[in-house]
Amino acid sequence: MRQIIIGNWKMNGTKALVETMAREVSSRAASLACDLVLCPPATLIVPLVAALGGAPAKVGGQDCDARASGAHTGDIAATMLREVGASHVILGHSERRADHGESDALICAKVAAARAAGLTPIVCVGEDEAARQAGRAEAVVMGQLAASLPADFADPPAGLVAYEPIWAIGSGRTPTTDDIAAMHGAIRAALRDRFGAAGGAIAILYGGSVKPGNAAALLALAEVGGALVGGASLVPGDFLAIAAAAAPALGRAPGAS
Ligand code: PGA
Repeated sequence: MRQIIIGNWKMNGTKALVETMAREVSSRAASLACDLVLCPPATLIVPLVAALGGAPAKVGGQDCDARASGAHTGDIAATMLREVGASHVILGHSERRADHGESDALICAKVAAARAAGLTPIVCVGEDEAARQAGRAEAVVMGQLAASLPADFADPPAGLVAYEPIWAIGSGRTPTTDDIAAMHGAIRAALRDRFGAAGGAIAILYGGSVKPGNAAALLALAEVGGALVGGASLVPGDFLAIAAAAAPALGRAPGAS
């Protein structure tokens, strides 16, 4: 399984960025040892899919509704993302949990809708700074994990999990490599407990201030199956430098060394 590098543009990006990103990805993606997924704002999914053409990179949404269709002004169904070429969708990002009051139960329903539509969900979990300082980081993440993933999450094609400590997002701060390795190990153990062998194959990504300068160290850690990149994913050269740091043989499978 190759590592996966996912760009989360959040509420940023223009058609001009779509063009430059697609050009850079098209010229460099084939030489990378990882898989790429770009998650622009919903308005840019169609132009990004078109601009990427046959380049080996996928496109994802940043959210979807749990419902199939209907009178829900402003919301987007999973099937709509799928129809225009998205293959993935980020769900439960801490900014959506905070800005829109999303609960674990709602995220779980969105994950089910995404899977039913044929999208691969990328489910975000992570503690805030107070929880980390109180020694409750693992308990918080375990709670989110248990309540955000539906029972069939590990069935093929399995979803992805992204560990994103809230205090590391956009802050330039990251946990120590020991702390990341410990949390990824705990997440792996929980996935195995719940899903058995299939839980051992779910990719666990790290997110939070991943940059070209720290990507190699983060991506070399055991159980780190890739990265979810925010700010640096808006700069094509930085995003591709992070992707170039992906470890083809490390940090991607249980027991990998
Ligand atoms: P960041 O964001 O890379 O800007 O810290 C990561 C994320 O929120 O997914």
